[in-house]
Amino acid sequence: MAPFDTLQSQLKAAPRTWLITGVAGFIGSNLLETLLKLEQHVVGLDNFATGFQANLDEVQSLVSPEQWARFHFIEGDIGSLAACREAVLIDGEPVDHVLHQAALGSVPRSIADPVATNAANISGHLNMLVAAKDAGVKRFVYAASSSTYGDHTALPKLEDRIGKPLSPYAVTKVVNEMYADVFAGTYGFKATGLRYFNVFGKRQDPNGAYAAVIPTWAGAMLTDETLFINGDGETSRDFCYIANAVQANLLAATADDEAQGEIYNVAVGGRTTLNQLFDYLRRALAEQDVDYAKTPTYRDFRSGDVRHSQADIGKAQRLLGYEPSHAVVEGISEAMPWYIDYFRQQKR
Ligand SMILES: NC(=O)c1ccc[n+]([C@@H]2O[C@H](COP(=O)([O-])OP(=O)(O)OC[C@H]3O[C@@H](n4cnc5c(N)ncnc54)[C@H](O)[C@@H]3O)[C@@H](O)[C@H]2O)c1
Repeated sequence: MAPFDTLQSQLKAAPRTWLITGVAGFIGSNLLETLLKLEQHVVGLDNFATGFQANLDEVQSLVSPEQWARFHFIEGDIGSLAACREAVLIDGEPVDHVLHQAALGSVPRSIADPVATNAANISGHLNMLVAAKDAGVKRFVYAASSSTYGDHTALPKLEDRIGKPLSPYAVTKVVNEMYADVFAGTYGFKATGLRYFNVFGKRQDPNGAYAAVIPTWAGAMLTDETLFINGDGETSRDFCYIANAVQANLLAATADDEAQGEIYNVAVGGRTTLNQLFDYLRRALAEQDVDYAKTPTYRDFRSGDVRHSQADIGKAQRLLGYEPSHAVVEGISEAMPWYIDYFRQQKR
């Protein structure tokens, strides 16, 4: 049995308590759905900065009333230490696991407003570390980022070889790791960082200037608008389907002591160019009987973007038993019906 299958059986047999920050967002709401389906007790914290009540409503529609009753939502800001202290407790006891996802994502957003990104991502992260440490939380996993590799050009990316950050967002994610490291050394409080590489899947917001590439392109194709490729299309990424990121979180949160306090790449270990990605999306749409006949429009490279990215996932495989369940193409095929539904209903 694969380690993740074993873990899911164990969690179902003996449910635990969890806090998900950023629970109304893309990754947070997918973690929530998985945990509730595994009969876990979950507290969620979110201030709806970039998350949606509709994401929570959708999770509610996908679980049983009994499972939903095990979820307690707190609308609050990780910028408030009091809100963080409230969220790490269930009935006066510390939660077993924290999955800290709340942050302002997006490199361009951080370039436009570095102060807001810094406040949510650095002060908020520090508040969560303090609240969890003081409450006696034993397992703390947080969302780190592949942007931490910055200007280091070597491929594939190994966790201990990073360059200089290329954006305010990347600075915040580097600082997250530095604080986690210092908390381990100073207080003996271990926090485990997952460096996500371009995660995608259902409930990733397709709207606005700061949307990620896959939902943006899915939206352009489904509404028959012009699709823009920044640069020559040969920029590449290690796109990671959400199911893989969920698996990594649960494995990291429940791993042995020796595996805690580490940094792990979370990706597939492959590399897809934007030109290939365009082709994959068009094919996934065709599978659903939707044709997109337009050709993409190429424009300038985007500031702060790295040219190529590809993870070495060996460390997560060895220490966590991480085994990605979905390649990029499989993930895109699985996610596409959600986007078709979304744009047909224009839900939000
Ligand atoms: N999606 C990716 O490809 C990717 C890649 C690398 C890192 N990450 C990191 O993963 C995490 C989750 O990202 P996502 O893609 O789900 O983004 P998202 O924007 O969908 O989710 C983030 C959630 O955090 C909430 N939030 C933001 N600031 C908050 C605050 N001050 N207090 C409380 N809640 C707050 C938002 O409302 C939102 O619901 C983030 O830390 C992000 O930096 C994501």
